[in-house]
Amino acid sequence: MKPENNFIMLFFHKKALGMKPEEIIRLVAESGLKGRGGAGFPTDIKWKLAAAVKDDLKYVVCNADEGEPGTFKDRVILTDFADLMFDGMTIGARAIGACKGIVYLRGEYTYLRGFLKGKLSERRKNGLLGSNILGTEGFNFDIEIRMGAGAYVCGEETALIESLEGQRGEPRNRPPFPVNTGFLGHPTIVNNVETFTWVPCIVSKGAKWFNDIGTEKSTGLKLFSVSGDCGKHGVFEFPMGITLRELLEKVDGTGAKAVQAGGASGRCIPASEFDRTIAFEDVPTGGSIIVIGQGRDMLKVAENFMEFFVDESCGQCTPCREGNAKLLEGIELLQKGRCSMKYLRELCSLGETMQLASKCGLGQSSPNAFLSIVRNFKDEIMGRTEKTL
Ligand SMILES: Cc1cc2nc3c(=O)[nH]c(=O)nc-3n(C[C@H](O)[C@H](O)[C@H](O)COP(=O)(O)O)c2cc1C
Ligand code: SF4
Repeated sequence: MKPENNFIMLFFHKKALGMKPEEIIRLVAESGLKGRGGAGFPTDIKWKLAAAVKDDLKYVVCNADEGEPGTFKDRVILTDFADLMFDGMTIGARAIGACKGIVYLRGEYTYLRGFLKGKLSERRKNGLLGSNILGTEGFNFDIEIRMGAGAYVCGEETALIESLEGQRGEPRNRPPFPVNTGFLGHPTIVNNVETFTWVPCIVSKGAKWFNDIGTEKSTGLKLFSVSGDCGKHGVFEFPMGITLRELLEKVDGTGAKAVQAGGASGRCIPASEFDRTIAFEDVPTGGSIIVIGQGRDMLKVAENFMEFFVDESCGQCTPCREGNAKLLEGIELLQKGRCSMKYLRELCSLGETMQLASKCGLGQSSPNAFLSIVRNFKDEIMGRTEKTL
């Protein structure tokens, strides 16, 4: 992404608004853009489904909840490239026929609210929001900012919609999906901050530019939040398909023992697998890369993540509510050297059941770190005694 510039923005809009909604969706399809929030769902399919529903009221929701531990790349976009993100939301609105947009902003980012509202006012003044946007007859669209209140689960798109509606932020049963029955029962696309931000770049530079980067199934560039035991922390832009080894070289993290890819809900990849690629078909991540150095205790790493999930589970379904607590208890037993191999196998089977039976992505992914640490670091985590604590 390049620093924004008003002329470029106007160019994005003029070009996008000159296209028919189905042409915008086709362009996004040709680019291969997949959701940057973690799940990697094809953006064009989501937009196509919402566009196909007949309703006078449709919504574009930007998921700026950014609650995954180790993720802070959306904050950089919100701070430095907010106009590109608003451009992407506006193009999305044009594609699906929406007249209202909402940015659901992480509670901890309240300090950005005034700044973003100022940007929206400027856009209204410049004809980039409001009625007949840039003279396009009948294209009316506006955006408002709504605040989250710090619950990780509210980043899950249906819990987010519940929260927007003023209910307790708990995931809904799916189907129906938000593209049919979203905010206030109307068709709604929920996309990540970064996903929206790539759209005007694709409109401007062409689908081929994006599609030529990355792998066949994971195209384009991606922002990564890099933290942990490496020399260079921060937000980096790399092509999809980069290997973990290449990434570690760029951030002075070679010599790491492992990488937690995808935040607390991601997988812990050991050094022996650093030639794997960061891509939806191999090692997926919404952008969080936590480098784990040789000196780290892998049980402490697992404990840290499981404590987070015990706190953040909404408690609606049993596998997640009870399972996370049981896995944490198992880690405490391992720390005391009081977990037999048989019980550890049962805990792993519980983790696999949680992946299958939990109602939403939180419980489906919360055992990932535990399971991958047990699989890859068995020698390190077994056979402890209380004395080694
Ligand atoms: C527990 C949980 C938390 C999530 N948090 C976020 C988040 O903070 N930001 C985000 O974009 N997606 C988050 N997601 C994914 C969203 O449900 C949804 O898939 C995403 O916003 C879709 O946008 P995309 O297709 O552009 O990635 C979360 C999912 C789960 C299960
Ligand atoms: S998986 Fe966890 S967070 Fe999701 S609905 Fe069930 S209890 Fe709530």
